[in-house]
Amino acid sequence: MIINPTEKSIFIEKTKIDSAVNRIAACIEKDYSDKNPVLIGILKGSFVFLSDLVRRLPIDIEIDFVKVASYGSGTCSCGEAKLLHDTSIDVRDRDVIVVEDIVDTGITTSFVCDHMKSRGAGTVRLCTLLNKPSRRQVDVRIDYEGITVPDKFIVGYGLDCAEKYRNLPAIYFIEEDKE
Ligand code: IMP
Ligand code: MG
Repeated sequence: MIINPTEKSIFIEKTKIDSAVNRIAACIEKDYSDKNPVLIGILKGSFVFLSDLVRRLPIDIEIDFVKVASYGSGTCSCGEAKLLHDTSIDVRDRDVIVVEDIVDTGITTSFVCDHMKSRGAGTVRLCTLLNKPSRRQVDVRIDYEGITVPDKFIVGYGLDCAEKYRNLPAIYFIEEDKE
C-alpha cells in the first residue's frame, strides 16, 4: 500500500491548528500565570505542538520529555504502556502539564499522568491538541483540548505513519493510492 497524503485529503488547515494552539495557550497562561509549570511532551508525536505551544506562553515554564511505548493500539488491545525514556527534571511537588499530540485509546496519556503522580508531582494536568474520543479504552481526564477528530488515521504536525509525515505543516487523512 502506498500512502499518499495529498492536498485533497487535508483535514485540518494550519490556520485552524494555530487557532486551537492560541486558545490552549491562553487558558494555560491564565491558569499558571503565578506558577512555574513543567511541560512534559510525550515523544515523538507531541514535539511540533509543544514547540508551537511554548512559544505562545509568556510565563515561566520548564520543558522535558518522556518516551512511551504503547501496546494498546493496533493489533493488540492489552492496554499496556512502557516507559522508554524518563524526565531529567525532578517533578516532585511541581505543577506538571503533560502535552500530547492526540488522545486515542487514552492508554499512553493515562500511563504518563499516573507516572508523574507516582514521581511526586504536586499537580498533573493533561493537554492535547487532538482528541479521538470514539476510540477510548481508558477513561482519561483532559484539561486542555484543541480539536475533536473522528475515528480516522491522520498524519502531519507531529503525527506519523511509520515515522513519515511528521513534518507536514497541516493535518491530513491517510489515503490509499488508487494506482
Ligand atoms: P493512545 O492510544 O491514546 O495511547 O495513543 C497512542 C499514540 O498513538 C499517540 O500518542 C499517537 O502518537 C498515536 N496515534 C493515535 N492516533 C493516531 C493517528 O490518527 N495518527 C497518528 N498517530 C496516532
Ligand atoms: Mg504520540
